[in-house]
Amino acid sequence: MDIRDLILPEHLEPTSLVGEGRRSVTFRADYKGESIALKVYREEFIQKYQKRYKLNIAQFELSRNETFYSIDALRPYSARPLEVIGIDDGYSLCFLQEFIDGPSLLELAMRNRGLPQSVLDAGQLICEKAEASGLHDLDLFYKNILLRKKNENWLPVIHDFNLVPQYQFPPNPFLALAYLTGIRKKSHRDWRCLKGWKDWSNHCRDGLTTNP
Ligand SMILES: Nc1ncnc2c1ncn2[C@@H]1O[C@H](COP(=O)(O)OP(=O)(O)O)[C@@H](O)[C@H]1O
Ligand SMILES: [Mg+2]
Repeated sequence: MDIRDLILPEHLEPTSLVGEGRRSVTFRADYKGESIALKVYREEFIQKYQKRYKLNIAQFELSRNETFYSIDALRPYSARPLEVIGIDDGYSLCFLQEFIDGPSLLELAMRNRGLPQSVLDAGQLICEKAEASGLHDLDLFYKNILLRKKNENWLPVIHDFNLVPQYQFPPNPFLALAYLTGIRKKSHRDWRCLKGWKDWSNHCRDGLTTNP
């Protein structure tokens, strides 16, 4: 995806590429005097979400982000959602979000030889509060988390909200049954991801810091 191919309103100016995910590419952009994250979706995933889930991927991500951000206890751990463009205005389909200016969880663990306890504690809180609030399957994979410092403590920030929860669209009949009967909890993958944070932290603490 090339920055020059984007069709954007005049008041939105991309300045640099910040990261690439499977479903989108994120640029840093100037917007109404603020430096923000501009998440541009790959055509393949726009189509896939439309066909398979009957969802607009950008609106879906905005709404999941808004729900998470609206919960007081979770707000400190969330990028602030801004808006979606490109629905019926001729612009490229994009989601605008607060820019998180910090290292990834992956990097900080490598740099510090493990994650600070503040990050692991916050991860536990995020899983508990989200589950209690009916928010499940948040894509908490350890390579998908950014960090920022608050009062001298590193805290995780969730920015990737476009994963469609598996319990809503189970990939096979066995998982469908497992969710239906409660054998598999709706938040199963969130807790499993949190375990991944701890495993990565231990891996780095032991000095085994090759990027997996
Ligand atoms: N709000 C943000 N602030 C800073 N960087 C971001 C932000 N959102 C995404 N990124 C960067 O872009 C990368 C890909 O974004 P991500 O949300 O994971 O995309 P995808 O939905 O395709 O998985 C991230 O790993 C991160 O480096
Ligand atoms: Mg991602």
